[in-house]
Amino acid sequence: MEGVKKKALITGITGQDGAYLAKFLLEKGYEVFGIVRRVSTPNFWRLQYLEIMDDIKFISADMSDMSSLAEAIHASNPDEIYNLAAQSFVGSSFDQPIQAADVNGLGLLRILEIVRNFNKNIRVYQASTSELYGSSVNEDGSQSEETPLKPNSPYAVSKLLALEISRVYRESYGMFICNGMLFNHESPLRGLEFVTRKITNEVAKIKLGLSNQLILGNLDAQRDWGYAKEYVELMWRILQYDKPEDFVIATNETHSVQEFVEESFKAVGLDWKMYVRINEQYKRPYEVQYLKGDYNKAKKLLGWEPKTKFNELVKLMVDADLKRWEAHLKGESLAWDALNHPGHVSYLYRKRDE
Ligand code: NAP
Ligand code: GDD
Repeated sequence: MEGVKKKALITGITGQDGAYLAKFLLEKGYEVFGIVRRVSTPNFWRLQYLEIMDDIKFISADMSDMSSLAEAIHASNPDEIYNLAAQSFVGSSFDQPIQAADVNGLGLLRILEIVRNFNKNIRVYQASTSELYGSSVNEDGSQSEETPLKPNSPYAVSKLLALEISRVYRESYGMFICNGMLFNHESPLRGLEFVTRKITNEVAKIKLGLSNQLILGNLDAQRDWGYAKEYVELMWRILQYDKPEDFVIATNETHSVQEFVEESFKAVGLDWKMYVRINEQYKRPYEVQYLKGDYNKAKKLLGWEPKTKFNELVKLMVDADLKRWEAHLKGESLAWDALNHPGHVSYLYRKRDE
């Protein structure tokens, strides 16, 4: 019906992609619902940073808790679900493999079961990942939708369960479920444990005299790094396509962690060799050494191409972290500061309040 807003439910709305996607969908005129899990320190800094806290209807739920997910889906009655919630840090998945399987794998299955019983017309986007390729590469040195999957972390195995079960539900029940096989994407809203943001944040501190070293693990790993703000648009475009399909989203360029380090120090005019140390603690038991995505399918069917180049991405992240630390030194209050949270949102949307 014309004039009626489309409704989207986002799991993982407090994460990097969830925040950018929420902003994107609000700008498209969607009514946006977001699932938030109960944590002792609320994590709304990204939504505050983007100034969209007041525009989202929050629902309290957890990917491990089927009844709360069912209530969230029934209460929001969405046209589209974007399943971005995950234990998304590969390193942690080696420490908490069962949680990874539960949240990332079974979490999607819970959503699919609820959607199958509630309304099979809801379109579902699943945040799949290049991590699934492991050491698998096409002859031309890239990874595409056809490349065999060889997951080599508990995280990747959990995402394989989600990918395969989504395909089974798509074929068995005719449901509109799509997987975005997204390669690494970064931004100033990236979590500090991921290598890019760990680097840019520390480089900013070193530049301002607040730190004197950056301790990393495997500098030789290569990644296809894109800009998260651009990638969330693809999540939406994938769900608007005529048929439910899976798409690789990437830049088709690969760079090593060392190159990321070099470019970051270059951005502030310092020599990286003076500050970088290696510690085995940051090395993984089983590593994905090389990723380079072939996004030709997305280019052809969705008319998409990445815009932000590697050096631009590094610079915008370093600049953002410099700005934050400079503001911090001036004693300014910062939306990115986890300590500056608004407390529990008092307006959690609940069906029983209607
Ligand atoms: P992120 O910043 O780590 O955000 C993860 C989100 O999941 C957070 O909102 C987190 O909530 C939520 N979450 C975790 N466990 C949950 C649970 N049990 N119940 C409810 N919510 C839970 O991740 P991201 O970078 O935005 O990535 C989004 C999705 O894309 C993830 O599924 C990730 O695996 C996938 N992906 C990411 C990339 C990438 O390069 N960024 C590439 C490929 C795929 P809290 O705020 O409470 O922790
Ligand atoms: N985090 C981290 N910290 N990684 C390091 C470090 C360090 O100190 N030193 C080297 N690395 C290497 C890791 O071993 C890995 O090879 C690479 O840097 C990138 O690590 P992360 O930034 O943690 O990302 P990831 O590639 O493991 O996983 C991200 O991308 C996946 C898509 O390929 C996450 O966002 C996943 O959720 C996502 O699916």
